[in-house]
Amino acid sequence: MAPASNGCTCSCLKVFANPVAKKMLMAITGIGLVAFLFVHLIGNLSLYAGPGGINAYGQTLHSLPPVVWAFRAGLILLLVVHIWLGIKVTLENQAARPTPYAQRTYLKVTLASRTMIWTGAIIGVILVYHILHFTVQMICPETAANTLKDTLGRPDVYTMVVSSFRKIGISLVYLVWMGAVALHVSHGVHSSLQTMGLAGEQTLPLWTRLALCVAAFVFIAYTSIPATILAGIVK
Ligand code: HEM
Repeated sequence: MAPASNGCTCSCLKVFANPVAKKMLMAITGIGLVAFLFVHLIGNLSLYAGPGGINAYGQTLHSLPPVVWAFRAGLILLLVVHIWLGIKVTLENQAARPTPYAQRTYLKVTLASRTMIWTGAIIGVILVYHILHFTVQMICPETAANTLKDTLGRPDVYTMVVSSFRKIGISLVYLVWMGAVALHVSHGVHSSLQTMGLAGEQTLPLWTRLALCVAAFVFIAYTSIPATILAGIVK
């Protein structure tokens, strides 16, 4: 392993100075975040079961504070490591070529791969908005589930989500967010599989298609919620 450039003796920090270890950590944390997207989606899709579905889900979750906080701690760790390494790798790549190319050529480079830092930034900024919206519940306080209760006395997550997405501005913010998530995931999954040595020359086209399918599925499944609410299908 190459010595850490800052001379730090801590082996944990040396990992962050090794390019291969950095790529591997980016891949592992990225896959962990995609797994979160799927778990969160299952919870969100319970909205289609009506107030009984998502309100019961919300209440069950919040009746288990140790589980919720352990889950949040894991998620924060994944996010911090992934974002920090993402910024570090981007800055290092920029420093490695200080003079701009006379003509930019992107061989086998896609829109998704070129814009990873920007889609990552959009995801981060709107994630803060999302947490203020649905966890802290300060964006639409008049329909906050912490104060509104359903007929069974449970926090009314259903009304909070439906009344929020009826506002076109809020739905548009989420649409932009999902677009950024899908673009980021499409390159992220593909690149993670390569880093982990799973995608060889032969299997590369298959993994490319798999990454696109994952991104398309995440986009369609998540955007279906604001879309069906705006269309009046979910009321
Ligand atoms: C239509 C799309 C979405 C809906 C309806 C939705 C709904 C919710 C709700 C209701 C909560 C509050 C959970 C609670 O505090 O009990 C929440 C929290 C959260 N959501 Fe989403 N979400 C959506 C998309 C996303 C996406 C795409 C991401 C990630 C990029 C995401 C990440 C999070 C995170 C990190 C939390 C905080 C979890 C926590 O407080 O423990 N959400 N979401």
